[in-house]
Amino acid sequence: MNSKRPVVVYGANGFSGRLVAEFLREYNVPFVAAGRSRERLEEVLSRVPGIETADYEIAETGGSVEDLAKLFSGARVVCNTVGPFLYNGPRVIEASLKAGCHYLDIGGEQAWLREVSEKWSDQFAARSLLAAPATAFMSIPSDIAAHLCIETGAIDTLEILTMFKGIPTFGSTQTIFAVIPTESYYLEQNQYKPWPRAASYEVVVPGSIQTQLALTWGGFPHPVWFKDHPQIANVRSLGGLLDRQIMETVFATMKHYEEQIRPLSKEEQERALAEMAGAVQGSTPPRENAREQRTIDVVLGRGTTDFVQCTLFGTCCYQQTGLLQAYAAHSLVHGPPRRVGFASATAAFGHRELLKVLESHGLTKAKLSS
Ligand SMILES: NC(=O)c1ccc[n+]([C@@H]2O[C@H](COP(=O)([O-])OP(=O)(O)OC[C@H]3O[C@@H](n4cnc5c(N)ncnc54)[C@H](OP(=O)(O)O)[C@@H]3O)[C@@H](O)[C@H]2O)c1
Repeated sequence: MNSKRPVVVYGANGFSGRLVAEFLREYNVPFVAAGRSRERLEEVLSRVPGIETADYEIAETGGSVEDLAKLFSGARVVCNTVGPFLYNGPRVIEASLKAGCHYLDIGGEQAWLREVSEKWSDQFAARSLLAAPATAFMSIPSDIAAHLCIETGAIDTLEILTMFKGIPTFGSTQTIFAVIPTESYYLEQNQYKPWPRAASYEVVVPGSIQTQLALTWGGFPHPVWFKDHPQIANVRSLGGLLDRQIMETVFATMKHYEEQIRPLSKEEQERALAEMAGAVQGSTPPRENAREQRTIDVVLGRGTTDFVQCTLFGTCCYQQTGLLQAYAAHSLVHGPPRRVGFASATAAFGHRELLKVLESHGLTKAKLSS
């Protein structure tokens, strides 16, 4: 397409894509709103708040690497919001590299991050490009909290919890089910160790009398980001929804998978999981409400004799995601990242900078104690 607009949002009509568009407009970044249906893109984009003052165009595209590379060519940054990224990430990242674009996505699937780290990092670095999957709520606020702990105490161990109250979208529900077959790893003495399969964990959430149910949810990105870190040797991440009923349903599906679905072929497994996810959430939820959809990220940092806790009290996890993507894209349009190749947004843009962005929008607030 060779657009003069520097950012392409792929999947712009999705629940998250439209929020990326909304915040790109706030940063005055011209963008291409891309997806597989012009009709759906036009319909959704026309309802994005303030869209009448955004500099954007709509692009319908095929989904092959060639189609996408043609679309991305001339842009500088791709914001990929088409998940599950385990399925859809590979063709989009390949096209981004072909077109010479920085790659951002909002996937939190640990297996996808390992793939980006192992397969794509060097190729992106060789072209001074950033590949930053998981530039999104379920990973970055807790990573910010982890870095606040690291700079505060002599710690080598991180326990990370990310929870949100809200209605998972169709795409999110598909992804929650898509990670069930994958191996989840935590980091112990800098080695990947597999979490037990189909296990759930009672967790203590500050500000709540009742305990909550959390899952490994594919393992989260943090163990991949901290692999080979000079200070941090142990990382365990858990998370989920602040809704026990939904978490019980996902946990029951994990057990059902082990007993009934695992013996099927890969294609049959993916179909069965997608059907189950579709039965749980088949539609798009309403816009988030800050008084209802709250989030919490808790990071405990432990060293031989030191302890630090950082808690982020936030709201509207999808808006946090839209804002993080837009800020990252805006930064890349205006200058190079601090890191190239595979990196977290925290490493590429700075944890204090990202915290300021979230806090200044009233989407989160950090409390640190040691
Ligand atoms: N880590 C996090 O904190 C976080 C936060 C938010 C979202 N996410 C992830 O981001 C993804 C999207 O979430 P969402 O809430 O935006 O979901 P959504 O509202 O269902 O939107 C999904 C978008 O992807 C498009 N899409 C789906 N399959 C496609 C395909 N095969 N080819 C081209 N486009 C396709 C959809 O287009 P059509 O309308 O044409 O189907 C739509 O634009 C999910 O994987 C979710 O888990 C992660």
